[in-house]
Amino acid sequence: MVKFQFELHVYRLVIANMRVNNAKRVDEVRRLDKNIDKALLSGVSFKTLQLRTSKTAMGLFMRPYIEGVSSFMEGFRIRKLVTESEVESIVIKAQAEENWRPGLKDAECFLACSPSGIFVGEVNEKPIGCILITKYSEDFGYVGSYIVWKEFRGKGYGFAMYSAALDRVKVKTTAGCALLEREKMYHKIGARGHFYGGRYDFHIPTSMSCLSETSTDESVSMNVQCFNKVNKEALFAYDSHVFGLPRHAFLNKWLYVSGSHSLVAIDDDGAVVGYVTARPTYVKEDGYRIGPLFADSSSIAEKLLKALFEILLQQEEAPPTICMDSFTEEAQVLARKLQGRKLVEMVYMTTSGTLPSGYFDKWFGHTSVEMG
Ligand SMILES: CC(C)(COP(=O)(O)OP(=O)(O)OC[C@H]1O[C@@H](n2cnc3c(N)ncnc32)[C@H](O)[C@@H]1OP(=O)(O)O)[C@@H](O)C(=O)NCCC(=O)NCCS
Repeated sequence: MVKFQFELHVYRLVIANMRVNNAKRVDEVRRLDKNIDKALLSGVSFKTLQLRTSKTAMGLFMRPYIEGVSSFMEGFRIRKLVTESEVESIVIKAQAEENWRPGLKDAECFLACSPSGIFVGEVNEKPIGCILITKYSEDFGYVGSYIVWKEFRGKGYGFAMYSAALDRVKVKTTAGCALLEREKMYHKIGARGHFYGGRYDFHIPTSMSCLSETSTDESVSMNVQCFNKVNKEALFAYDSHVFGLPRHAFLNKWLYVSGSHSLVAIDDDGAVVGYVTARPTYVKEDGYRIGPLFADSSSIAEKLLKALFEILLQQEEAPPTICMDSFTEEAQVLARKLQGRKLVEMVYMTTSGTLPSGYFDKWFGHTSVEMG
C-alpha cells in the first residue's frame, strides 16, 4: 500500500508538471487526473495507470518522480563519485558481481569519460546501487552500470536513482545497452531497441584458427601498427568519426591502460581505416575484453583481430579468453565466424527513438556497454 501511495504521489507530480506545459497536453492531464481519482476509488494498479499514460507523459515522468522521492524514501540519496578508489570499490565491484566482466582499470577511464556522471545510491549513507550517465553533449547521454544490490531490488530505489541521476546530468536523450530481459522495462520510459546483439566469448586459439582457415581477404591492402606508432590526431579523428562524438579525454586514458593492446589499420594512402583495443579484465580469470573494434569493413576487422590474437597468445599470464560486445548484424556474423559463444543477449536502445550520430556499420565491437 505504501508503494502504491508513493507511485500515486509520483503520478500526481507528473500531472502537476504537465500543467505547465503546452495546451496540447491539457486533455491528457485531465484524462490522467480522472484515472487517478478512479484508481483511488477502485484500487486500480499502478501498472494499469501506466498503460493509460501517453509516451509524452512518460517522458515527463522522471523529474517529478525524484522531486517526490525524498519524502517517501527516507534516508535515500544519490552521491556523485569522484575518486578512482570509490568508483572501483562500488561500481566496478558491482559489475564484477553481476559477472559483467569489467576491465582492470575501468574506474580511471570511467572518471576521465564521465567526471560528473558516476553516482552511488545510498540509504542511510550505505551504498545500495550505482549508475553511470556519460554526458556527451547537451542533447545526448549514455546510461550504464545501472545496478541495485540484490536485497534492495523491487523497492523503487532503482528508478529513483535513475531519475535522480538523469536530473543531475541533464541530457535530453539517452542511449544504453540493455540486457534483453530488461527491454520491456525501458519501454516504460519510451525507449526503443535498435540493434539486438550480445556479448561473445572467444577462445583465442580457436578463433585464431578460424581466421587462418577462412584466410582474411588478401585484396584488402593495409597494414596493422601499434597505436603509439600512429599519428594520434588521426586516430582520435577516426574514433570521433566512427563513434559520432569526440571523446579525447577518455581515449587518452583508455589507450594507455597498462596491459592493454591497441592496434591500428592503415591503408596505402596512410589513412586510418580501423582500430582495436583489448584490455585486461578486473577478474583475472576472465582474460581480456575487446572494445572498440572499429573498422571500415569486415575484412579489416578480421585483420586487426588476427594481429591482436597473435600478440595475446604470447602473453603467458592471462588466460586465452576474450569477450566482445557486438550489436550490428555484420558484427555478429563476424563473432559467429570466430566461434564466439554468446554469453548474454543485449539490445542497444535510445530514448529518442533514433540513433545518435556515428557510423554503426563500422562498429564490430562496442567500446563499452557502460560508456557507449
Ligand atoms: C534493473 C534494476 C537496476 C532495477 O532496480 P530496482 O530497484 O529493482 O527497480 P525499482 O524497484 O525502482 O523498479 C520500480 C519500477 O520502475 C521500473 N523501472 C526501474 N528502473 C527503470 C528504468 N530505468 N526505466 C524504466 N522503468 C524502470 C521497474 O520495472 C518497476 O516497474 P513496475 O513497478 O511496473 O514493476 C535492478 O533490478 C538490478 O540491479 N538488476 C540487475 C542488474 C541489471 O539488470 N541492470 C540493468 C541492466 S539493463
